[in-house]
Amino acid sequence: MKHFLAIADLTSAELKQYLTTAKKLKAEWRKRGNKPILKNKTLGMVFQKPSLRTRVSFDMGMLHLGGQALYLSPNEIGLGQRESIADVSRVLSRYVDGIMARVFAHAHVTELAQWSSVPVINGLSDWEHPCQALADVFTISEHLGKLKGLKVAFFGDGNNVARSLMFACALSGAQFVCAAPRGYALDEASLETARALGGTVSVTDDPQLAARDADVLYTDVWASMGQEKEADARAKIFPPFQINAALVALAKPKAIVMHCLPAHRGAEITDAVMDGAHSVVFDQAENRMHAQKAVLALLMAGARKVNRNS
Ligand code: CP
Ligand code: NVA
Repeated sequence: MKHFLAIADLTSAELKQYLTTAKKLKAEWRKRGNKPILKNKTLGMVFQKPSLRTRVSFDMGMLHLGGQALYLSPNEIGLGQRESIADVSRVLSRYVDGIMARVFAHAHVTELAQWSSVPVINGLSDWEHPCQALADVFTISEHLGKLKGLKVAFFGDGNNVARSLMFACALSGAQFVCAAPRGYALDEASLETARALGGTVSVTDDPQLAARDADVLYTDVWASMGQEKEADARAKIFPPFQINAALVALAKPKAIVMHCLPAHRGAEITDAVMDGAHSVVFDQAENRMHAQKAVLALLMAGARKVNRNS
């Protein structure tokens, strides 16, 4: 059985298959709506953190494909607190055909997958945000017509979003650079993983250097969910890494600006850039739904395997 836990787990061919499927499902949806390939299929959505995009795009994605999603809030499940992760996983997978989970520790989503008899999708962990990166490279290829040979520059915290994007770039032949303050760069082991996937990746603490001749400028919040206590300290360190008009001026004339959202306007990105001609942030947000439909289709369409014990 296939799960979707991390971009680092994929091959280039698998990433390509997800992108081709996303393109097909997006075109189909725009034309006359999707075929009900997930008729009577259900997705349990476990959230330990808030969400707009992930929750709604998975919910609507399931609906468009003929299935149904069930939202389970942090308080309802008490993952690992009210009940062990292994037991939650074994029980939930008797009811649903797929599980999407947004968790704090990445180990929690891998543990869910270990015990699940249905596919598990990572809807964000502290380590990776693979659904986001899939939508991101899909959006880049739509706007710039290719991925191979592009320069993708990320500004800010070397976090889950940056890491998944780096792996997705590595798998698709785009060069990746992460501009972050010292102490907040992506870790060396992740850079090595990206290089092993075939990537040309680097980190720098010079945002201007990273922006020069870039095709894509990307940013995310400076303090992620779970890092709220660090937000004030980080707000003092990160301002040189803001995406503003001066930074965009260093990039290629047709460069696109991306943000996974939610944005802190005036912090990691200015209003003028977010609402300006280079910004593709709302196409990017829409593409979460199309990219995730590809994941749902490739993981969940077809007959359900019957549980050995049921
Ligand atoms: N980008 C993203 O994952 O958004 P949400 O946190 O709103 O789901
Ligand atoms: N890095 C952010 C992404 C939010 C979509 C976080 O983990 O909170």
